[in-house]
Amino acid sequence: MQRFVPVLRNDNVDLDLISLINTLMASCKEISFRLHQGELADILGSTLDENIQGETQKKLDVISNQLIKDILLESGLVRAIASEEEDTIVAGSENGRYLVCFDPLDGSSNIDINSLVGTIFSIMEVPEGQTGATEEMFLQPGTQQVAAGYVLYGPSTQLVLTTGNGVRQYTLDNTIGEFLLTNEKMIISEDTQEFAVNMSNQRFWQAPMQQYISDLIAGDTGTRDKNFNMRWIAAMVGDVHRVLTRGGIFTYPTDTKNPKQPNKLRLMYEANPMSFLVEQAGGVSSTGYQRIMEIQPTEIHQRVAVILGSKNEVDTCLGYHK
Ligand code: AHG
Ligand code: MN
Ligand code: MN
Repeated sequence: MQRFVPVLRNDNVDLDLISLINTLMASCKEISFRLHQGELADILGSTLDENIQGETQKKLDVISNQLIKDILLESGLVRAIASEEEDTIVAGSENGRYLVCFDPLDGSSNIDINSLVGTIFSIMEVPEGQTGATEEMFLQPGTQQVAAGYVLYGPSTQLVLTTGNGVRQYTLDNTIGEFLLTNEKMIISEDTQEFAVNMSNQRFWQAPMQQYISDLIAGDTGTRDKNFNMRWIAAMVGDVHRVLTRGGIFTYPTDTKNPKQPNKLRLMYEANPMSFLVEQAGGVSSTGYQRIMEIQPTEIHQRVAVILGSKNEVDTCLGYHK
């Protein structure tokens, strides 16, 4: 099985970018190790702090953020980072070519139940000729990403990565501490009979999504010619991984549950990287009204509605929004 760095070299990925991803993976291996130590390493539970989103930070949110942040800022390759757990961008090296957005630990509510969590990342280049480190540098649409991926800390630890040439999956071999290629080309099936949504929010959705999901539930007794199954891991990283692995539609739609926060998922470090992966695997990713990767961001922590997955199913869902 091939190690992950030579695979990227074969793909003619820029050497600095390979080095950056490899550096990032060093921190993910550390997170993986600590997570698997679990209760033994005193890493479960919450801190007394809240992040900028008003969410209580788990100990592991903070540890993961620190590990990734430190290694990236010391790498010499990164101009600045934007993280879910940092209020503002954090500057790195003056000559760094890259900007990295990340969700250090996605699915925090799963930590204490020993269930799926992951790290999501998105890499862009500093726009030509720009000096210093500013938030404006980060405000580029998702189409500008040069790499995106996630590390899923499941029964095995896997890296799913795109540099714009398809999606590959690697599995961490703990005996040698290396990510080895385990799936050369992840492709999302065009059709599916599986959907993922937090059903408890149903009454707060807008009309098109209410109608679409109730038609899925009605299955072949309604307007559809097949029946559907439902899954919800409550970690986008786990739900999107299932979609990439066996197809499906995943959505976190706009809702009115909390009028101050109509959307849950964050554009820069959740929706954009996942959209890049999904599109590279032949799927579709949209807000319902716009391709996610074409959104012009206005701030690093902005939130967005997400509908992604199997092409024909997402297109059907988008039909309800017309
Ligand atoms: P995070 O743990 O990084 O804050 O993200 C959690 C997100 C996302 O991963 C998941 O799809 C969603 O929250 C789950 O939301 P519900 O709690 O509404 O199911
Ligand atoms: Mn998240
Ligand atoms: Mn998180």
